Amino acid sequence: MTIAIIGTGYVGLVTGACFAEVGHTVTCVDADASKVALLQSGGIPIFEPGLEDLVRRNVAAGRLSFTPSTAEGIARSQVIFIAVPTPPLPDGAVDMSFIESVAREIASSLDSYRIIVDKSTVPVKTGEKVAETIKRYCRSGVAFDVVSNPEFLREGFAVEDLMKPDRVVIGVSSQRPVAAMKEIYAPFGAPIIVTDTNSAELIKHAANSFLALKISYANALAVICEAAGANVQEVTRGMGLDSRIGPRFLQAGLGFGGSCFPKDLSAFINISAQLGYEFRLLREVQQINADQMARFVKKIQDTLWVLKEKKIGILGLAFKQNTDDVRSSPAIDLCHRLLREGASLRVYDPQAMDKARAVLPEGSGTTYVMDMDAVAEGCDALVIATEWPQFTQLDLVRTRASMTTPILFDGRNLFDPVEMKRLGFIYQSVGR
Ligand code: UDX
Repeated sequence: MTIAIIGTGYVGLVTGACFAEVGHTVTCVDADASKVALLQSGGIPIFEPGLEDLVRRNVAAGRLSFTPSTAEGIARSQVIFIAVPTPPLPDGAVDMSFIESVAREIASSLDSYRIIVDKSTVPVKTGEKVAETIKRYCRSGVAFDVVSNPEFLREGFAVEDLMKPDRVVIGVSSQRPVAAMKEIYAPFGAPIIVTDTNSAELIKHAANSFLALKISYANALAVICEAAGANVQEVTRGMGLDSRIGPRFLQAGLGFGGSCFPKDLSAFINISAQLGYEFRLLREVQQINADQMARFVKKIQDTLWVLKEKKIGILGLAFKQNTDDVRSSPAIDLCHRLLREGASLRVYDPQAMDKARAVLPEGSGTTYVMDMDAVAEGCDALVIATEWPQFTQLDLVRTRASMTTPILFDGRNLFDPVEMKRLGFIYQSVGR
């Protein structure tokens, strides 16, 4: 198939590269000419495992190209994917202006039948609005179909998630685009679910809200476990082995962050309210997540007593492992809270330090350290804020010896409490 992808962010770029990898011819379009120039010269604007190789290979094979021109992308393609941002507005609703303007741009370039696929995460009924907009602005009056095809990829595992999806959801309002959509996804070998467009749009918000609910459930259990002297990891392991529950997304810690869960929850609550339903269950999911961070900061305060002039090492700035993304990162939130209390920070992340500097500037209390094992030097406490697996390889003997006081707050439950005590740490984690 010939495919255009409009928007080369995380979703657009990974989707484009994976479609090219399975043999489709893909044109990635981005309004940001400097981003297009970077991609054309072999550069990758984000860190995502496996992506650079994938892009290079498919550009070399002639299956993947980049252009700033939407018209060019549309002219070359049978199917047009929209993968532009849908950022949150201050009231939790979704800013649809990028989608709307892309719909108008598509309308002005349509000269024969095309399938227009929405991949961005959008409120239910967006497909209807996109179709209405294209119809209104399309002077040629040609036929087209709008399809909803939500993405389910996780940052850090995006290539893997796209190449081996659990399922592909295709929401349509007529049968005409179904065969082409199935052809695009056939090489991935996943079950394909065909629904109406409204259901497809809801599947995305329903799935992400449920995953966030699982995490908040584990975090609420962590509070009970601490009070009861139990271990949340044992409790969630025991729960997760029930195949009806499943073991994933039950990891208690500092709470969820990132560009999806917080935004999608707010959006879903907002959409539900507009549809006349007060989704109080999801409000509680948000509240538990907010409380979890406050509880962790209090733990640090209770132990160190006064944070002013305390030096604290922070391991992890990304919102989770395997990414350089710091958007809505619990780790960055934690840093700001500790800085506000007058602490000074020595911070390290395997991938996210460049991006973190923009939101957590060097100086004024924050020092970026290039070596994981040197972060704790001279510190009154060390905090694990992101679940990077390499933090378990920390030289604990050196770390302990280099600290002013060997206090470790493990916000991601990476270490064994018994072992940490044996090594001489005052060790606190979450729900254990
Ligand atoms: C998520 C969804 O998983 C994905 O399907 C969707 O398309 C986009 O949103 P992403 O935001 O990339 O993906 O990350 P994810 O791996 O889901 O983690 C989100 C947050 O939850 C992170 O802050 C992570 O640290 C936290 N988390 C995850 C937990 O606190 N505990 C868990 O058990 C799992």
